[in-house]
Amino acid sequence: MRAVDIIIKKKEGYELTKEEIHFIIDGFVKKEIPDYQVSALLMAICFQGLNEEEQFYLTKEMLESGEQVDLSSIDGICVDKHSTGGVGDKTSLVVAPIIASFGLKMAKMSGRGLGHTGGTLDKLESIPGFQISVSPSDFFKQVNDIGIAVVGQTANITPADKLLYSLRDVTGTVESIGLIASSIMSKKLASGAHTILLDVKVGDGAFMKTLDDARELAKAMVKIGNKFNRKVVAMLTDMDQPLGEAIGNSIEVIEAIETLKGNGPKDFTELCYNICSEILMVSNVCSDKKECYKLIDEKIKSHEALNKLKDMIIWQHGNSDVINDYSLFGSCKEVIEVKSIKEGYVKKIHTAKIGTSAMLLGAGRSTIKDVIDPVVGIKTLCKKGDYVKVGDTLALVYTNGKNTQESIDMIIDSYEVTKEVVKKNNIILDIIGE
Ligand code: URA
Repeated sequence: MRAVDIIIKKKEGYELTKEEIHFIIDGFVKKEIPDYQVSALLMAICFQGLNEEEQFYLTKEMLESGEQVDLSSIDGICVDKHSTGGVGDKTSLVVAPIIASFGLKMAKMSGRGLGHTGGTLDKLESIPGFQISVSPSDFFKQVNDIGIAVVGQTANITPADKLLYSLRDVTGTVESIGLIASSIMSKKLASGAHTILLDVKVGDGAFMKTLDDARELAKAMVKIGNKFNRKVVAMLTDMDQPLGEAIGNSIEVIEAIETLKGNGPKDFTELCYNICSEILMVSNVCSDKKECYKLIDEKIKSHEALNKLKDMIIWQHGNSDVINDYSLFGSCKEVIEVKSIKEGYVKKIHTAKIGTSAMLLGAGRSTIKDVIDPVVGIKTLCKKGDYVKVGDTLALVYTNGKNTQESIDMIIDSYEVTKEVVKKNNIILDIIGE
């Protein structure tokens, strides 16, 4: 077999066989096939696509290129939740404790933030003392004892995906639905959960800008997961405005804690309840959404879900007193109000730009080496469809002095206001199930 023949075959729009996909991925990982040939193939895939069979075999090759986490020593149903990334997305911090409070097991490996989107690990590390590195044996013990752990990736999972993703990043070949679906699913499958909830974000602040693309990606991922005998539900959710109010690290954790106390922002609470309901239904804990909402409400009112977060913080060496004393997170030097310079209905919020302005303050990274300032960030106080007057506060900027004016200017620029009434966004756009 020769790589060049496989490149030509894909360029001409033919389906690749499982043997050909194996030849390419195996050869690439072993450095027998050079980057330039793999780049050419990736570009051909971007134009010609991958069908279901090809996506399955590509996922399988990437999955089998590294270690796979074996969760069989954990009693009960292991659930994982994955978001394709957004601005103000602190959903895992609320969903994981709620799900654990129902007796399901949340054994979750999370990632760090890059660019305009944040990462769960960075948010958790804003809790004083919190450790995201946990040995495999402690990880299993923690999940068996309290039902919840959110940790950094320890095992060497999907090295082929890591190599391929680095190449895609610099060759303009990230945006292929087949490649994205295989990449995400290879990592999720390697993490070992039985049930996977995918939160596919759609809109300005997301990878997928249109509902059609997001739907195609979601369907592709559900099909891949099902072929590997996992239960997978994908939700398409709105990212055409920041989720909830807080964008940053400690301020997002505080918002998550408030949500677990029953005081969260409406859109964020609705998203968390919906995600939890889908997980509970697919895990046969309850049969309809109304019943799920009632049961989740009980877990919130009784503080059982909040106590799961507290247990996790204690097990992972953090100071759990933060739950009742937010001053323990530390504070920034200044909180500045950003005021509207126009009157009218909020028509568009350039969400990626708001994410970037939070990053500029120090809440995120522009390169993987940047160090995060845990206490800075932005609170957005208006949603699409809200009516604002000149001088109304659009957002609060939590700053320690880094790029403050640039960030404020970007926030003002991010809001488009019109005289016509604007419809409010729905947070749940579609659900693609089994
Ligand atoms: N996230 C991933 O993990 N992989 C992709 O290809 C795109 C987004």
